[in-house]
Amino acid sequence: MKAYVNPDTCIGCTLCTQACPEVFQMKGEKAVAYKDPVSERARECARQATEECPVQAITLSP
Ligand code: F3S
Repeated sequence: MKAYVNPDTCIGCTLCTQACPEVFQMKGEKAVAYKDPVSERARECARQATEECPVQAITLSP
């Protein structure tokens, strides 16, 4: 699975980095997906972060 944060959409709310620190981290005022979700746990929290992002900035692809 691959995770991507659209920097044009992200408003830097940090929710994804709290929900899933093993995939997302803040880089300045935006989040980046610094690691692809590989483990079951990472996939699960990446999905959760994607749902919770208030501006739908996160895309997951298989
Ligand atoms: Fe940005 Fe959404 Fe994360 S606004 S910081 S991608 S939860």
